[in-house]
Amino acid sequence: MHSELSGTTAIVTGASRGFGRAIATTLAGAGARVVGVARDRDRLEEVRAELGDAFLPVAADATDPTVAGLLLDRHRPRTLVLNAGAAPLSRPLHRHTWQTFSRAWDVDVQHVFHWTREALLLPLAPGSTVIAFSSGAALAGSPLSGGYAGAKGTIRFIAAYGAAESARAGLGIRLVSVLPRLTPATELGAAAVAAYAEREGVDVATYRERLGQALTPAQVGLAIASLAADPAQDRPAYLLTPDGLAPVPG
Ligand SMILES: NC(=O)c1ccc[n+]([C@@H]2O[C@H](COP(=O)([O-])OP(=O)(O)OC[C@H]3O[C@@H](n4cnc5c(N)ncnc54)[C@H](OP(=O)(O)O)[C@@H]3O)[C@@H](O)[C@H]2O)c1
Repeated sequence: MHSELSGTTAIVTGASRGFGRAIATTLAGAGARVVGVARDRDRLEEVRAELGDAFLPVAADATDPTVAGLLLDRHRPRTLVLNAGAAPLSRPLHRHTWQTFSRAWDVDVQHVFHWTREALLLPLAPGSTVIAFSSGAALAGSPLSGGYAGAKGTIRFIAAYGAAESARAGLGIRLVSVLPRLTPATELGAAAVAAYAEREGVDVATYRERLGQALTPAQVGLAIASLAADPAQDRPAYLLTPDGLAPVPG
């Protein structure tokens, strides 16, 4: 599967659990060497134990611009997956402080900004792909997640701006954003689903039923590997649901 990725290098941020771990697993399964970045060394070591030498764990803060510069200089990945994200504190607007409201800007947006900038400045080799994790919340809003939806909307813009700069400079780097639908299948998603269930006065099982079929981390891994492998998938942004990737209209 995805033989185009065999023997190539990928960097995945947020690889210690959730979507990132599944993406690292799928890319390694396709024959890529995967550098996985997250802060929790123990959980990264678990991934290493599962995937073996195909996975290089790097315990680091992905929002640190030095980490971005060093790892891109050292590994020059063909595939860069900017997936790391902070779990928002689930509260209505007026129960946020500015610090809790802006958390996704400090983590998610800041890391996508630094890594995208370094990828363009290096630059990565022609044919490289940068995939940035936005969210379906960027379209629908997320009233219990403070600034999360706006931050994820900005990530979509950063990927599109980066794609325009790549095209203007003839770099041949593909930059796309992916907008997954909310799923209780990860720690971040489960916390959000529990908060929305409580808000609506229903139990979690009822709320999950209302959401319909849940997107699984394995489906995310497969979708990202297919996106990374296929240069023809060059739309600026893709929705990601259990049915797969679909270009965001407009
Ligand atoms: N689950 C959903 O329903 C959903 C829907 C739409 C979009 N998304 C987005 O998809 C991405 C992955 O979400 P998930 O559900 O898989 O979340 P998750 O299970 O909470 O995993 C988040 C990952 O990000 C890492 N991370 C957080 N802060 C970091 C930092 N400063 N430096 C390095 N790594 C950091 C975490 O590792 P450490 O804690 O070890 O650092 C972890 O590996 C996020 O960007 C999220 O916003 C998720």
